[in-house]
Amino acid sequence: MTGLYVHIPFCAVKCFYCDFAAFSGQKKQIERYLAALEAEAALLPPRLPQTLYVGGGTPSELDAEQCAQLFERLRRAYPGARLTESTFEGNPDSLDAEKLEVLARAGVTRLSIGLQTADDELLKSVGRRHSAADFARVFRLARAAGLPAISVDLMYGLPGQSLDSLRATLDFVLALSPEHVSLYGLQVEDRTLFSKRGVETDEDLGREMYELAIAQLARAGLEHYEISNWARPGHRSRHNVNYWRRGDYLGLGASAASFLGGVRSSNDEKLAPYLAAIEAGRRATAESEVPAGLEELGEEAFLGLRLIEGFVPSDGLRRAFEGPWAVLKARGLTREDGPRWRLTPEGVFTANDVFKEFVPPFQPQEARA
Ligand SMILES: C[S@@+](CC[C@H](N)C(=O)[O-])C[C@H]1O[C@@H](n2cnc3c(N)ncnc32)[C@H](O)[C@@H]1O
Ligand code: SF4
Repeated sequence: MTGLYVHIPFCAVKCFYCDFAAFSGQKKQIERYLAALEAEAALLPPRLPQTLYVGGGTPSELDAEQCAQLFERLRRAYPGARLTESTFEGNPDSLDAEKLEVLARAGVTRLSIGLQTADDELLKSVGRRHSAADFARVFRLARAAGLPAISVDLMYGLPGQSLDSLRATLDFVLALSPEHVSLYGLQVEDRTLFSKRGVETDEDLGREMYELAIAQLARAGLEHYEISNWARPGHRSRHNVNYWRRGDYLGLGASAASFLGGVRSSNDEKLAPYLAAIEAGRRATAESEVPAGLEELGEEAFLGLRLIEGFVPSDGLRRAFEGPWAVLKARGLTREDGPRWRLTPEGVFTANDVFKEFVPPFQPQEARA
């Protein structure tokens, strides 16, 4: 299976926590960027994707005509593609009925709306420009437009966010019955306003929030299928599950990554060099690597373990990480379920500690034997 990721790096303003390739004040470049995406597709190895994910940045910063143009260009670039899933990310302040109609007509099957929190004061304090009411209005418009599934992006561990605030946010969102919810714990990334302000996360409160969310989402009938993702039956993100299973994917756009036949590459994050390379008929690759040896096997583990049901490890992985795996099991963080390796409930809470065992620098050889 091959996925296609298309990165749209435009945002109205930069949120205080965000380190993604997302630029404000660049909307005049959109038409040029859309042309570059189509040109880039012709420079990549020919593959027919089964899933499409238009993410960002904020794809809904494109106006209705530009949204239609984007899908038309993708159809031209991949004429034989039969997509089983097509996701489009948007923010409440840049989605309206007209745009949602265009997306529905273009075959979008999943709309992913970024809410983060339903607490209006908290939204302002992290640099968001919409209210909870804006989100609810857009959610209903998306239903009316006939988009088959809606996912909602939320965050916990934001400065000043309380357990009650998170509970109220989940109640508010679940009352609308979304098919899918993503919930991310705040990461304070370098190069963000939060980092400059010295924002720190509270690990204990973060864990309480994550536990609260797991219980509340389960009661609402959403299945916890990946560390940060919940879905109603039949609504897991196929595109993202393919990442965690180390399937192939093509990436178009600034900062987009591809993984094809064991080669991982990613594009320049900045708009100007990305556009310059593509317009000169060159790929915009900034980095390329072929994960091999322990690195490749470790990646199989830390990606596969993100899925709550776990994964069936390759023989090479079992052999190379026998020692660390035995230690993780003895600590009660992982377990075997038939042939599968998976996290225990405690391991789900401490997943980042578990993953450390599978990324360089690795334990000395004797710990693996
Ligand atoms: C990169 S955004 C793109 C979608 C859209 N622009 C939005 O704001 O929702 C995807 C999601 O990543 C999450 N995110 C971004 N930065 C984060 C951070 N520093 N820590 C945790 N989650 C983050 C937010 O939940 C956000 O909705
Ligand atoms: S969180 Fe979304 S809207 Fe905010 S800066 Fe990042 S990509 Fe843009």
